[in-house]
Amino acid sequence: MTIGRFPLTRLRRNRHDRFTRRLVAETSLSIDDLIWPIFIMEGTNSVTDVASMPGVQRVTLDRLAAHVERAAKVDIPALALFPITPAEVRDEKGTDAMNPDNLMCRAARLLKKEFPGIGLIGDVALDPYTSHGHDGIIRDGYVINDESVQILKRQATNQAAAGIDIIAPSDMMDGRIEAIRRDLDESGFVNTRIMSYAAKYASAFYGPFRDALGSGGLLKGDKKTYQMDPANSDEALREVESDLLEGADMVMVKPGMPYLDIIRRVQERFAVPTFAYQVSGEYAMLMAAIQNGWLDHEQAMMESLLAFKRAGANGVLTYFAIEAAERIHKGLG
Ligand code: PBG
Repeated sequence: MTIGRFPLTRLRRNRHDRFTRRLVAETSLSIDDLIWPIFIMEGTNSVTDVASMPGVQRVTLDRLAAHVERAAKVDIPALALFPITPAEVRDEKGTDAMNPDNLMCRAARLLKKEFPGIGLIGDVALDPYTSHGHDGIIRDGYVINDESVQILKRQATNQAAAGIDIIAPSDMMDGRIEAIRRDLDESGFVNTRIMSYAAKYASAFYGPFRDALGSGGLLKGDKKTYQMDPANSDEALREVESDLLEGADMVMVKPGMPYLDIIRRVQERFAVPTFAYQVSGEYAMLMAAIQNGWLDHEQAMMESLLAFKRAGANGVLTYFAIEAAERIHKGLG
């Protein structure tokens, strides 16, 4: 870094006009950086709004191709699929996670056929499938690790068989990345990638997502015995290191905006593909202020996304992905 002294150096010169600002920009947001999360549900011919996430919808499979067409038009590289499992299909062990005809697998097959060039990311955790809304199975009131991992690895391989390209374990059990990697490899899915939710915090910002999935009301207690304590940062590096050693190809930090320091530390220490998840509560918070006219929609959205790039993220999972991509596509980035 060069150090200049006023009045010879005037830092405002490089901010003088738009073309100079464009030339000296250190980071930028491109469509290549965006992953669009999508909520899918059972039934036919239905699109419903998620009340706490204005602009976000749940769609039935017969409407999915039309929904995703929007992403294809602007060449969004990947989608993250989140299934809404009806209460009557859920059980204590999350059995439907291993069902080759579950909603997620049917959606994956459909999308691979209609949009072979779009990457599909499958969340691996049992909360969409369990009657208690936890990410693993419960014994004596505790989410037990090793037996949960046995189910999670089968969930992962089940998704890979249906065409999911990137397995994204979001459960935070210990040792799940290695178990999943080995199971995928033994089943012939050596090129199925793993994007590990390596540093996932027990956060209040997931509330609207649990609404969207209908797992919020089901959830008993909290997830603090497996998701990370928001007080910790060194521990995030240990999580990332162990997931990398176990075979993760990419890692994720979640939530996003309150945890930019973690993204920075992970990128500096490991220099591996690192993704941020701008979660449902962050989206809800921004949209609430936007709808009240307190924040400018486009500017707040684009600034919040650029901040992830500046912090060191290689990409962002965001409910704004489609809007942001359409804006960049029009040359308004
Ligand atoms: C499932 C999962 C959650 C989210 C993504 N995967 C919820 C949770 O851990 O309770 C949250 C995403 C969001 O809030 O946007 N384990």
